[in-house]
Order: sequence, then structure tokens, then C-alpha cells
Amino acid sequence: MLLIRGQVVKSLLLGIFLISLVSCSGGRNSTGYSIINDMIYSETYEAFSDSQIHENGQSMQAPPANTIARGFMPHEMDEDDVPVVMENPNTMTAYGWKRGELLYNSTCAACHGEDGQGKGLVVTQGGFPNPPKFKSRSFKYSKKDKKPAGHIYNVITFGSGNMPSHAQQLYAEDRWLVAEYVRERLMTKGKK
Ligand code: HEC
Repeated sequence: MLLIRGQVVKSLLLGIFLISLVSCSGGRNSTGYSIINDMIYSETYEAFSDSQIHENGQSMQAPPANTIARGFMPHEMDEDDVPVVMENPNTMTAYGWKRGELLYNSTCAACHGEDGQGKGLVVTQGGFPNPPKFKSRSFKYSKKDKKPAGHIYNVITFGSGNMPSHAQQLYAEDRWLVAEYVRERLMTKGKK
């Protein structure tokens, strides 16, 4: 019994030794012996490479007319191609306010500061042009003494002056949460 077990261990050790020889052959940059060739030599096309499949010879194809990507809603533009100021299509929940605050602090506060005073680190230490205080007079444009959330939503989506678009950082739904948070909590005097 013991003898058999010894033999098993011996052949196991030998096996591991042989595998280790194979796996190290060919130097550092070799991928070694390939078993699943489809994965190493991919047959998919690169986005900008030629293609024999499509009539126009390109791999990357334009989307079919009148279609949009899943989960993407194009912004409505007016006749001068200016983004329309929309109403928030979602109702705000306690969770939404909290998430708006969290996303503001992680995406916007670097420049605008957590208190919205425009003194974030990117401004004070990075030398980026300082944004206006959210509580400043220039934001009083609606009857309610503050900009509508749709305006802030558009600023996040398209950028404004020195501020680049943040559409890549935040989903449309989250942009509404941040816009509502900025409007309610940072633009209104008295409230934090
Ligand atoms: C890289 C720094 C930076 C970041 C990050 C940033 N902003 Fe700004 N923001 C600015 C600057 C600078 C301005 C002033 C733009 C100008 O007038 O040239 C500005 C302006 C604004 C304005 C006023 C624009 C107007 O015309 O009414 C709003 C609202 C605003 N930002 C919201 C946000 C929100 C919300 C976020 C996070 C999603 C954000 N910003 C992220 C730098 C930044």
C-alpha cells in the first residue's frame, strides 16, 4: 500500500516537473504551448481594419438609420441646435438625494468644492480657472431664485465655458441626481 502511494507521489512530482519545463520554454516573452488556438489567434476584426465581409470593406459599420444605442436617449435640440432645458423625468427619492450628494463629491467637488464655493483642490492647488460660487448672484435666473435642474443637467452633459462635459463620467440618470443636489443643497441660501 505504502509503496503504491509512493509511486503515485513520484509520478505526480515528475508530471509537475515536466509541465514546468514546457511552461517555461521559449523565454520570458513566449506565451508557451497553446492549447486553445482560437483565443490566442483571434479571428475577430480590429475596429479600423479591412473586412471582406461587408460591402464597403470596413470592419466598423455605422449604426442603421433611425436607431439609437440601448440605454441612450439623444438630447432634444431646438431649431438653433441648442440643447433644450428639460424637466427631470425621474422622481427624487431619499436614496436619490444621497446618491446625488455622493456623486457630486466624487465628480464635481475637485473643482467646485464640497460646499460649492468653487475652491476645490484642482483650483487651489492645480491652478484651474475657478468656477463661480453656486450661491452667487449670477445663478439667479429663474423666479425661484436658482437655475432649474435642467440647466445644470445640460451643463454637466455638454460642459460650459471652461468646464468640460461630464457626460462620460455620469449616466444620464445620475446627472439628474447631481443636478437636483446642486440646485437644492448648494445653490439655495441657508441650506447646506
Ligand atoms: C475640472 C473642473 C470642474 C469640474 C470637475 C466640474 N466643473 Fe463645473 N465648472 C467649472 C468651471 C471652471 C466653471 C465655470 C465655467 C465658465 O464659465 O467658463 C464651471 C461651471 C459650472 C456651472 C455653471 C455653468 C453655467 O453657465 O451656469 C455649473 C452648474 C457646474 N459647473 C456644475 C458642475 C457639476 C454638477 C459638476 C460635476 C458633475 C462639475 N460642474 C464639475 C469647473 C469644473
